[in-house]
Amino acid sequence: MHNTAAPDSPPNRPAARKRVAILISGRGSNMMSLVEAAKAPDFPAEIVMVISNRPDAAGLAWARAQGIPALGLDHKRYESRAHFEGQLQQALELARVDLVVLAGFMRLMTAEFVGAWRDRMLNIHPSLLPSFKGLDTHARALAAGVKLAGCTVHFVRAEMDEGPIIMQAAVPVLADDTQETLANRILKQEHRIYPAALRLVAEGRVAVIDGRAVVSGGEAAEAALVAPTGQC
Ligand code: GRF
Repeated sequence: MHNTAAPDSPPNRPAARKRVAILISGRGSNMMSLVEAAKAPDFPAEIVMVISNRPDAAGLAWARAQGIPALGLDHKRYESRAHFEGQLQQALELARVDLVVLAGFMRLMTAEFVGAWRDRMLNIHPSLLPSFKGLDTHARALAAGVKLAGCTVHFVRAEMDEGPIIMQAAVPVLADDTQETLANRILKQEHRIYPAALRLVAEGRVAVIDGRAVVSGGEAAEAALVAPTGQC
């Protein structure tokens, strides 16, 4: 008897792209930046589905227009958080999703759901975590008088805005900033680091060691950091 099976991964075949679902609740500008980035032929992930807990989210219509399956799962129609998440989980499994990306998704998740996606679910928060977790981030940053603000991509843990930090970008806070001007400056960086962080994770270059995300491979340190020079 001889073995005619092809080898599992011939040296020249590129690794399969990770299948990504993006969860949103609103306008979805981060989702758009991820979808645009994933159009690059060398991007290691594809966006296979967009799900919103608000069926009227503007981002859903945009995703559909891009030809991406987009699902509105109205959380108010479920009797509990766990029921809602059961439905969500089923949709993710049906689409054979490898990674879940939260992009302005405004629902807290149970520890069970978060545990099921441990180190496979990313979130972005518009502050330099662990500072200013939660809502009204920009107002609190301005009130505190911080001189640097920014955004953070991290793996999701059960506690809100907690989890190993994958990538951060810093921006200056200017004397005449309002919540809006600061939010806009940070949002520009969100659109830059979220696709970059997803790339690192999808390439398998991010390991969680002792609760910290460690980036390996070429230019690892630079890959995890965006500094504030020349970006006002
Ligand atoms: C972003 O600022 C993100 O950091 C936060 O919610 C906002 C969502 O914006 N988690 P968008 O829907 O991606 O435009």
